[in-house]
Amino acid sequence: MTQQTGLEALSSESRRFEPPADLAAKANVSADAYEQAAADRLAFWAEQAGRLEWATPWTEIVDWQPPYAKWFVGGTLNVAVNCLDRHVAAGNGERVALHWVGEPDGDTRDLTYAELLRQVSMTANALTELGVQAGDRVCIYLPMVPEAVISMLACARIGAAHSVVFGGFSAQALVDRITDAGAKVVITADGGYRRGSASALKPAVDEALERCPDVTAVLVVKRTRQDVAWAEGRDHWWADLVDRQPESHSAQAFDAEQPLFLLYTSGTTGKPKGILHTSGGYLTQCAWTHWAVFDLKPESDVYWCTADVGWVTGHSYLVYGPLANGVTQVMYEGTPDAGGRDRWWSIVEQYKVSILYTAPTAIRTFMKWGEDLPGGRDLSSLRILGSVGEPINPEAWMWYRRVIGGDRCPVVDTWWQTETGAMMVSPLPGVTSCKPGSAMGPLPGISVDVVDGEGRSVGETGGGFLTLDEPWPAMLRGIWNDDSRYRDTYWSRFPGRYFAGDGAKWDDEHVLWLLGRVDDVMNISGHRISTTEVESALVSHPKVAEAAVVGASDETTGQAIVAFVTVKGTVDDLESGGDEFAQELRAHVAKEIGPIAKPRQIVISPELPKTRSGKIMRRLLVDIAERRELGDVTTLADPAVVQAIDDTMGAAAAKG
Ligand code: WTA
Repeated sequence: MTQQTGLEALSSESRRFEPPADLAAKANVSADAYEQAAADRLAFWAEQAGRLEWATPWTEIVDWQPPYAKWFVGGTLNVAVNCLDRHVAAGNGERVALHWVGEPDGDTRDLTYAELLRQVSMTANALTELGVQAGDRVCIYLPMVPEAVISMLACARIGAAHSVVFGGFSAQALVDRITDAGAKVVITADGGYRRGSASALKPAVDEALERCPDVTAVLVVKRTRQDVAWAEGRDHWWADLVDRQPESHSAQAFDAEQPLFLLYTSGTTGKPKGILHTSGGYLTQCAWTHWAVFDLKPESDVYWCTADVGWVTGHSYLVYGPLANGVTQVMYEGTPDAGGRDRWWSIVEQYKVSILYTAPTAIRTFMKWGEDLPGGRDLSSLRILGSVGEPINPEAWMWYRRVIGGDRCPVVDTWWQTETGAMMVSPLPGVTSCKPGSAMGPLPGISVDVVDGEGRSVGETGGGFLTLDEPWPAMLRGIWNDDSRYRDTYWSRFPGRYFAGDGAKWDDEHVLWLLGRVDDVMNISGHRISTTEVESALVSHPKVAEAAVVGASDETTGQAIVAFVTVKGTVDDLESGGDEFAQELRAHVAKEIGPIAKPRQIVISPELPKTRSGKIMRRLLVDIAERRELGDVTTLADPAVVQAIDDTMGAAAAKG
């Protein structure tokens, strides 16, 4: 028996939003791209690779020995030259590359492409002086300052792979990543500004390096001017070492498959995996998708990606994609509420941001804070809005479009992963008529297939597991130091296909809906219900700000739905008491999806526990829902939240 689900109901009812006519008329990419790519996928990608500057042309587009791919075989290029030198050579050296905005108000820096090239060249020279050579690994542990971008490009320039570790990670996380990567140099800062105050970074490096004997040098950016411990001979101030270097650096071209970076992602279990990306194919797909999906006009757009450089979105869509395309962008150091809850909107107003790329969790936070804040600022410069990182519920999609986008900006929901390197599933703003909450379908040149548990394609309609059945240029090339884990994790569940770990379904119109990680799909009395669907239903209630739903084990039904909900305003504002409101929500979900999806329990909580990258910690919520011992909370943005929720549950259990 198939259950009528919330998303089916929404997708069949929901309006479609057509591309604005003026945008469609001048769009970078038309519907022809899909036909062209379908006719000859490899020729399509070769054409996009041709948008880059190569020192030696490739002799073969792809060498595919599943599950190992080499793209643009025999070609050589320098990634940093593609992001900097060629724009300066084309006469765009005076264009601003980065409008950097620090968290403390008024703390700003503008760097043109020429200035960025000068600083990257000096840093490349400094790294060379420290003994870094092509093929080495450099660990970067920095706040959101321009030196993070400069360091990444300096590594790329000399053919060293960077491993950026998010500034919120602990000393232990640094030890694991430095050791696994075999990094010999660490680039860090005294500290950074976050949530209104200076936080320290260097002490974590000092602690970590007691256990990393192979690190020979540490380069330290002075950001907060707090006191730091100093290891003579090992530690170097950026201002001392970099600023005295020659201002030019002649860059060598590297093989298309030269490692560009490692980026560690936590699996659900076990130690973090070092995802390996290389140069030519990665840059090709980052640059093309950034240009196509945001309909980028580098001469006039001001682009802002709010992700931290410590995550893949920061790598592909703050550093490599935008800089390869030569656009002007905003980079902001701090939190959305630093200096007022309308900080983001004041930045959009001040810099006339035209493209904004952010995450649903941020959008839902702004929904909670109310329309007046963005309403008080001039957001008319915006023309395209992007979403990434998790399924965006239709309610948040609509709010984003209406309140931030003034009902005129297309919303592009982009699905991809650290492992895919670049966007895979997304609408094109000048082509696709969008359904709120859907990433619509694969981009030109990308092949996806939804399969059932036995790996059989479900065809044009139906749900199952999202797989990628053809190689793509920006695909991961492996897991650093762990080839068998690469094959097991991604290629063994459905032999011959890359399994993304996400559930997805094609609706009746062959439109793709991402349903979250498959471990988030619940099975209630034999019926599959996605946590996302229940969350969407909850968030569609006018008083709900954010919802996280987990499947907790249940004796009778297999799993039962437990929902954690935050409300707009405060809990005390609710007219009915918390218990009554929970009943109202259960009825609401029953109405939206069906009685089967009614949460067994609804916990109304002041905040939801999130990782530092803003993802809701569902596994932790499962533990709370099942009242087990709490798991590892070191990646939690605010561990106090967990305690608060746990206390609420405890009180409820005691009452019950
Ligand atoms: C989820 C972030 C639905 C998905 C770029 C994926 C999404 C995981 C979307 C990768 C989206 C990302 N809609 N789900 N638009 N974008 N995801 O590696 O579950 O941090 O597998 O990469 O985020 O997260 P990662």
